[in-house]
Amino acid sequence: MSYDSVRQQWLAGPEEFWAKAAEGIDWTGRWGEVRDRGSPVGRWFPGAELNTCYNALDRHADSGAADRTALIYDSAMTGAVRRFTYAELRDHVAELAGAMQAAGLGRGDRALIYMPMVPESVMAMLACARLGAIHSVVFGGFAARELATRISQARPKIVLTASCGLEPNRVVAYKPLLDDALAQADHAPELVVLLQRPELRAELKPGRDVDWKDFLRDAKPADCVPVQATDPLYILYTSGTTGQPKGIVRDNGGHAVALHWSMKALYGISPGDVFWAASDIGWVVGHSYIVYAPLLAGATSILYEGKPVGTPDAGAFWRVIGQHGVNALFTAPTAIRAIKREDPALEQAQRYDLGTLRALFLAGERCDPDTLEWSGQVLGVPVIDHWWQTETGWAVAGNLLGEGLFKVKAGSAGKALPGWDVRVLDENGAEVPAGETGSIVCRLPLPPGALPTLWQADDRFRETYLSDYDGCYTTGDAGYMDAEGYLYVMTRTDDVINVAGHRLSTGALEEVLAMHPDVAECAVTGIADALKGQVPLGFLCLKSGIARDEGTVVQECIALIREHIGPVAAFRKALVVDRLPKTRSGKVLRGVLAKIADGVEYAFPPTIDDPAILGEIESSLLSAGIRAE
Ligand code: COA
Ligand code: AMP
Repeated sequence: MSYDSVRQQWLAGPEEFWAKAAEGIDWTGRWGEVRDRGSPVGRWFPGAELNTCYNALDRHADSGAADRTALIYDSAMTGAVRRFTYAELRDHVAELAGAMQAAGLGRGDRALIYMPMVPESVMAMLACARLGAIHSVVFGGFAARELATRISQARPKIVLTASCGLEPNRVVAYKPLLDDALAQADHAPELVVLLQRPELRAELKPGRDVDWKDFLRDAKPADCVPVQATDPLYILYTSGTTGQPKGIVRDNGGHAVALHWSMKALYGISPGDVFWAASDIGWVVGHSYIVYAPLLAGATSILYEGKPVGTPDAGAFWRVIGQHGVNALFTAPTAIRAIKREDPALEQAQRYDLGTLRALFLAGERCDPDTLEWSGQVLGVPVIDHWWQTETGWAVAGNLLGEGLFKVKAGSAGKALPGWDVRVLDENGAEVPAGETGSIVCRLPLPPGALPTLWQADDRFRETYLSDYDGCYTTGDAGYMDAEGYLYVMTRTDDVINVAGHRLSTGALEEVLAMHPDVAECAVTGIADALKGQVPLGFLCLKSGIARDEGTVVQECIALIREHIGPVAAFRKALVVDRLPKTRSGKVLRGVLAKIADGVEYAFPPTIDDPAILGEIESSLLSAGIRAE
């Protein structure tokens, strides 16, 4: 089939389309109507019953694929490689779920997972799914304060963690961060289960903390607990425009259907193929395409602990592909840029057999045409940019490798996929002509797999996503669609920036900078970076009468962000300025600040309070060496 015929099938009958896709999932109870017509957003398969873990593991293990490899853990940090067949992974998960059940975790309860890229993290997620409990995974690069916010919001009964994560330049001790977070949070979990890694041992607090091995000692395997298709599978917090992250809710049924469908149609992956999403389980890409989708599809998933460069060299990705026979790789453009920078002729790849690789998928940030074209030339496989968000759970726009690729246009994230009615609107809600930039929205209802709401924040959900344009979900991205329906996603319309494929809120960074005793006012913008796409830049106005060395204040602010948000913010640049450019109503002109810092042309803001400030900012950026002449 072609993209056009698949899209046509969906347009002709969206509910029939998804009902057919739902045949790829095993249900213990059927739905009444395919989509709840009473819900404008999209609640799929109401009344149906299933278990996501059963679909990811047991059904393969019980039907002839018990010995097929489900998961390959490859650590470039320790050199370890561990393989788990479907039967083995199911048994490990059932045992862990049994221990969690004995500890009182049941359907609808939350478990927070703060763990590095080790197989036990995947087991923990699947064990929650097995019990109908809701997991909330927190990325290891966040600091204690961010972790505390998530603990306070998700209110987990159990926290699963490890003694440490491994970064190229250091061992990251998780336990002190967790203890600090628990001290800050306004909720206390009943139990902390900790995996001791050989690289660092953590101290356990008697009565609350238990060693992972002891926890499993007398565990009896737990059966899969059937849940409603509309019950939450997980909550994943992502950056919004304020310091309060948004708890994206994912349901069980729609998620399983959409992800299972996407593996074949979008990624061209069949049972037994090897799929590698080089991301982290703390991000949505890791949830969807390291853990759930490859297993739902009966494929083999790679869990890689390492970096694209430096672990030990720029050949790390090619080594993994060659060693494990990877058929499709999914990563962020930043990772490819990092490899290209160190190995522009891709000499490292000559050392490995990449013959199994059929395609490279890129997402997480805008992919510049250079990166796309370079990787296509050197790898000799299709390179497919596709666009999605934590909220959407899977790709909104892309290409369909499994149905026959259509022509790739560098700079475009492809065309709207079945399920998504993508429109580009002007500020009045009218569609703009092809080629003109506007806000990218999706007409409701959203397809299976997309967020139904925010965790315990229905009003915030409606206000954030549904209130800008009638009957539409606001993506927060802006761009244009060409006459052939190719979508170009260019920038965010809100205060979110994208650093190395990681999403950050400038508002959250500003809240932390404002905590510095010498800072009167501040603004953070994202500026262009050749490797990471964007990096944050802070503008600091100091309180009057502060006579301290500006460089010292800047260093203290950098340390403050690392302490409160975490190293993942990659906050390394800040500048002391006398004043910030504002509108007459007092709103800081962040967009203009970013453009001045990038040295690109900008429209002179008609509402600016004092135009002279723009020249002052430009001179400060030049003399600080942040902007080149
Ligand atoms: N736990 C603790 N710290 C972490 C972490 C984790 N899981 N992940 C990253 N960090 C730290 C890093 O150690 C680094 O700390 P440092 O300031 O002490 O050096 C900081 O966070 C920034 O990390 P990172 O963004 O990874 O930058 P880098 O300079 O170390 O590496 C790349 C650059 C390009 C190799 C890296 O950004 C990368 O692999 N990007 C791909 C991103 C990706 O896959 N995103 C998923 C979306 S699909
Ligand atoms: P996250 O929720 O962290 O996955 O970040 C989602 C955001 O990353 C999107 O809203 C976009 O701004 C950006 N993004 C992701 N994929 C792409 C892409 N292929 N092209 C352009 N921007 C992208």
